[in-house]
Order: sequence, then C-alpha cells, then structure tokens
Amino acid sequence: MIIPGSASQSLASSLAAELNEPLGIVNYQRFADGEMLVQTPKIQDRAIIVASTISSDAHIELLQLQDAVRRQADEVLTVIPYMGYARQDKLFETGEPISAAAMASAFSTNTDRILTVNPHVDTIDKFFDVSCTIVNAAPVLADPLPKLTDPLFLAPDEGAITLANQVQTAYGEGETDYFVKSRISDVEVQIQPSDAETRDRDIVLVDDIIATGSTMSTAISQLDNPHRIFVSCIHPVLAANAVTKLSAAGVSRIYGTDTIEQSVSTVSVASEIAAHV
Ligand code: R5P
Repeated sequence: MIIPGSASQSLASSLAAELNEPLGIVNYQRFADGEMLVQTPKIQDRAIIVASTISSDAHIELLQLQDAVRRQADEVLTVIPYMGYARQDKLFETGEPISAAAMASAFSTNTDRILTVNPHVDTIDKFFDVSCTIVNAAPVLADPLPKLTDPLFLAPDEGAITLANQVQTAYGEGETDYFVKSRISDVEVQIQPSDAETRDRDIVLVDDIIATGSTMSTAISQLDNPHRIFVSCIHPVLAANAVTKLSAAGVSRIYGTDTIEQSVSTVSVASEIAAHV
C-alpha cells in the first residue's frame, strides 16, 4: 500500500497508479496545542511511504508515518522525493550540526530502505543506517520544454553541470555550459559569466533546487541578449519571493517536478521512482 505524506499526495497517487498498488487515505490531524497526529488505514504486507520533507512539520509527520506503518507492515520503504535539510551535508562551522546526518539517522529508525530523488550531493546515502537508493530524475526535465531556438543549457554552478548535460542529452540538441558561483549568504550569490555566446539563443538554466531564486536570477543577469529564458529544476522549493524574482529577471517559464507539489511542477518523477521500488 502507498502511504502519502500530506505534502506528497499527488506524487503518491501517481506512484500508486504506476505500481498498481492501493493508495492509503491518511488522516492528518492537529491537536489544540499544535501537535500533529497521523492515522493510516490498516496495512498488511508492504508499505511504501511517500513524503517530501519540505518543512519542519513534514519531518515530524514522516517520523509519525514511519512509526505507525512499522507497527503494521512486514516491509517498509520510505520514499523522500525531496529531502529537506540535505544541503547542510558537512560541518560548515564548529558548533553547528550536520543537519542532513541528523535527519537521515532519524529516518533510518523505522524503515527497511530509503529512496530519494536527486539529493544535493549523492554522498547523502552515507548518512542513512539502512540502504539508500538515489533516483536521477534529470532526463524528465526535458519533457515539458517547448521547441527551442539554438538552445544553450546552462548550469548556474559547477555542481549542476551533470544535470544540465543530462537535460541537454534528453532534449536531443543544443550545447551545455556553466557559471562559477560563490555564495555570500543564504540569499546572495556571486556568479562569473560563462564563455558561451547567449545572444538570440534560447537559454535553459538547470539546477537541482530553486530555493530563494538568487542563484538563477544572478545567473540570468549575466546573459547577453538571449532570445527566451527557461529555468528547470528537480525541486521547486520557490521560497518567499522566488517566483517574482525569476519573473522580473525575464524568465518565460519555470519547470519543476512533483518532488515538491507547486503550480510549476509540470513533470512527474513517479515512473523514475517506480523503476527503483
Ligand atoms: C546549491 O548549490 C544548489 O544547487 C542550488 O543552486 C541552490 O540551492 C539554489 O538556492 P537559491 O535559489 O536560494 O539560490
């Protein structure tokens, strides 16, 4: 049975259809003091929890779902399509936590396996105490793109080069290049221009996450007279005024996947996840 987290109900439904598994209807409740309570239907055999940890509450909800399911099912698979806190994956300063390790350790307690989609770094798997499968959804980002003119796929930093290459390969034509980024704060980045010619070309900027939109909008400010600008990401966090920032920067369209359910989540990663279940 597929057990959705409250933030992943559409993706869970799509996955249930892909796998031809029943979809469990979970009740998500809150007590008067703000504490949360989930109630799952009766589960037999295998349970597949699908829950993106997009907020601190979503972390608590997933822990509750895993505990509730572990008490009933023979086998538990936890799918975390978007794993929050995953970017804090090393000790940046003494006195700080490695948040990704803390979350991974907690989520390993009541599951047999973990599956996550395009984490910020693939080495996230070492933080889990159970087997962790990493699903690469980059090729599906090519699906919703329109017919492009002389396309240039750009990674806004070196970490996104592989993603940009994979989207370009899946699209079937165009070139790939990247910017060099240094982060000044969580909302400010500096970006060195790429060498590629951008005048009159359709530009597709590709990244794993769009959070504040600072990386994408700063990269766009370096482009010289492009024809159209599209931005594609696996995880459309789109915090605060990110959509406005991108729009003001001249973006024609934002494309994201349903690892986070937003209005821009035009492609599903359900079949990529189903292939690894
Ligand atoms: C960081 O290296 C990631 O790959 C993204 O570039 C980053 O998370 C995007 O964040 P923001 O939209 O806040 O610039």
